[in-house]
Amino acid sequence: MKPVARLSCSAAMIALGCSGLGAGARPAPGQQDAAQVRVEQTLAQMTQDEKIQLLHGTMPLFIPVAKRAPGMPVGAGVIAGIERLGIPPQYATDASLGVSNIMDMRKGDVATALPSGLSLASTWNPALLREGGRMIGSEAVAKGFNVMLAGGVNLVRDPRAGRNFEYLGEDPLLGGVLVAAQIEGVQSNGIIATIKHFALNNQELGRSSASVEMDEAAMRESDLLAFQIGIERGRPGSVMCAYNKVGGTYACENKFLLTDVLRRDWGFKGYVMSDWGAVHSTEALLAGLDQQSGEMLDRKRWFSAELKPKLADGRIPMAAVDTAAKRILWAIYDKGVDKTAIATKPIDYARNGEVALQAAREGTVLLRNEGGMLPLAGPVRSILVIGGKADLGVLSGGGSSQVVPVGGFRAVEKIESGPAATFARRAWGGTPPLDSLRRTFGNAQVTFVDGSDVQGAADAAKAADVAVVFATKFATEAEDQTDLSLDGQQDALIDAVASANPHTVVVLETGNPVAMPWLTKVPAVLAAWYPGQRGGDAVAEILAGKANPSGRLPVTFPVSGHQLPNPVLPGSDLPPPSKEDKATYGLQTNSPPFTITYPEGADVGYRWFDRKGETPLFAFGHGLSYTTFNYSALKVRGGRTVRASFTVTNTGAREGADVPQVYVTLPGKARRLIGWDKPVLRPGESRTVTITADPRLLASFDAVRQRWVVLPGKVKIEVARSASDPVLTAQVSLIAQTIKP
Ligand code: GLC
Repeated sequence: MKPVARLSCSAAMIALGCSGLGAGARPAPGQQDAAQVRVEQTLAQMTQDEKIQLLHGTMPLFIPVAKRAPGMPVGAGVIAGIERLGIPPQYATDASLGVSNIMDMRKGDVATALPSGLSLASTWNPALLREGGRMIGSEAVAKGFNVMLAGGVNLVRDPRAGRNFEYLGEDPLLGGVLVAAQIEGVQSNGIIATIKHFALNNQELGRSSASVEMDEAAMRESDLLAFQIGIERGRPGSVMCAYNKVGGTYACENKFLLTDVLRRDWGFKGYVMSDWGAVHSTEALLAGLDQQSGEMLDRKRWFSAELKPKLADGRIPMAAVDTAAKRILWAIYDKGVDKTAIATKPIDYARNGEVALQAAREGTVLLRNEGGMLPLAGPVRSILVIGGKADLGVLSGGGSSQVVPVGGFRAVEKIESGPAATFARRAWGGTPPLDSLRRTFGNAQVTFVDGSDVQGAADAAKAADVAVVFATKFATEAEDQTDLSLDGQQDALIDAVASANPHTVVVLETGNPVAMPWLTKVPAVLAAWYPGQRGGDAVAEILAGKANPSGRLPVTFPVSGHQLPNPVLPGSDLPPPSKEDKATYGLQTNSPPFTITYPEGADVGYRWFDRKGETPLFAFGHGLSYTTFNYSALKVRGGRTVRASFTVTNTGAREGADVPQVYVTLPGKARRLIGWDKPVLRPGESRTVTITADPRLLASFDAVRQRWVVLPGKVKIEVARSASDPVLTAQVSLIAQTIKP
């Protein structure tokens, strides 16, 4: 099997959005692009009904089989095409981790499962995100889809939030650059990707009934900046607006978000689709929403049955329908959807599995390696593998993004109750780590116990050379977690095994940062996240030293919930929603209405810890290697932006990839990431890295002046191994400037 080419980025490209690709030809300002010309021509031929047809979608599962168009794939959404005008149907599938198949809606259908978003983010490698997006997008096309609802980039504000596993971490630059690359990859197949969920949908509790209150400057410098970078660099055809309210107005009818920010400030040309069951009025059309998705999940068909009478009596101008239809057509033409043949090619799952393997290799983070226990290089005679259903596969996150991996799930546990029970499930699949370890450590006796008998596992561990505990924590859409603990009795299991055998490794398969009360007893800990189709192989390769871990944390691991901006997860102390709540707020309601405030504002994650002077369990950007790297010769330049050049040297005995990070600290502010690189270096090899900051990262947003404002004066520059581990420091002077939003 030809190995997937090692994917890495040059420094300059990363700071400016490394995706190995230009962002496509951009017309000169004011000049109509080719797609726009076609849009006008097509719109002129469309009837009112045809225009409205583009504005609302349903779900195939709700269409009787006999009424489904030939070849209609059963996925998340469908909008009929207009054959006489060459407008293709819009067949939508989830999502960011592969072609999902929730509730087994396509009986027996499988797809290549990428590792979770936090694993992808741990690679800090835009080229890899792009390749992963290309791969999953190609499988979507092969299965008949031309809209892929991939591109989740909500910031990880609270490590207990249920969908963090789908997203790309806590930093707007890292998340924005990576989601852009993913979107480029998906759209390189001639289909539309959807950056989501716009905006401030940072937790599941209250996703349909809560209002997030945050001042504009904090929004602009955090969640909105991640979307802005993702849209600028990735050019998604669509934005998916979120369920929640922002400032008391639903995101999907929020003029500030959908018109002022997205169109007036950012010049977004594509269309806004709603989340499924997130529309509450026809007037949302006037705020900037263009398409009602999954209309049967809403209380009314706001963009069809409810729209027509309002067009007739003028309460809604036809111009609003024209605008929405043009945006949808623009995305179809600009991404080439009308030229993309769907469901015509076979899928090479073996080849695609190699992409998932490379992603898992680079997305696994070596958190701790006391005494250089790893890699297990010496003669290992016996390995005891414990727990995590490691004999069956690896865990995946629940909800719309869940991919049934090639080979299917080998263990599925129903969720008995709660808002996720109707459509999510705990499931394990992909290469079982036990099989991978047996193949990799061919000369060792590799045995397995499931961990249900803690004492039995400890006794068995005592007799083995090495014990490897796979520890899991399930996470799902529609529900958050109330604490940071591993599921069930795993903390006790790990404690007992590590007490019985000092050569214990813990491999975490979690959707979030977790607490580790046993940490001082365990010499080696890997964060494998939900490692996807070939995750078992990646873990085995890293334990054996066949792969040198290069993952770096995209999220902070707190010591405990007390360190968090909201020690109690917002809304977790509320009663369940009433029938009236559900009737008012829609199908996805999982709580009574409440207000969410995020005290950290723009200082998400490591910036909160910096602001509070708190020391986390593991810092943003942290990750160990089997070799060592030195930073030297820092040269910095100030002025209108910051430019930092420095040398990275592999001072160890084996090849490895490092992720040097550059942070800036403005006076009175918390540090913030302004760039990184990922050089792969042979022993003794050195490379000069140059990072140039996007000036918006050196600014504060002034909501009164509606400008990014860079203040003049000295700022601190750090070249670091993590947000808590600066190595080289310097100061530069910035000159004052203002930048349009
Ligand atoms: C879900 C999710 C969204 C997904 C959509 C279609 O509720 O919020 O991410 O794309 O519905 O399944």
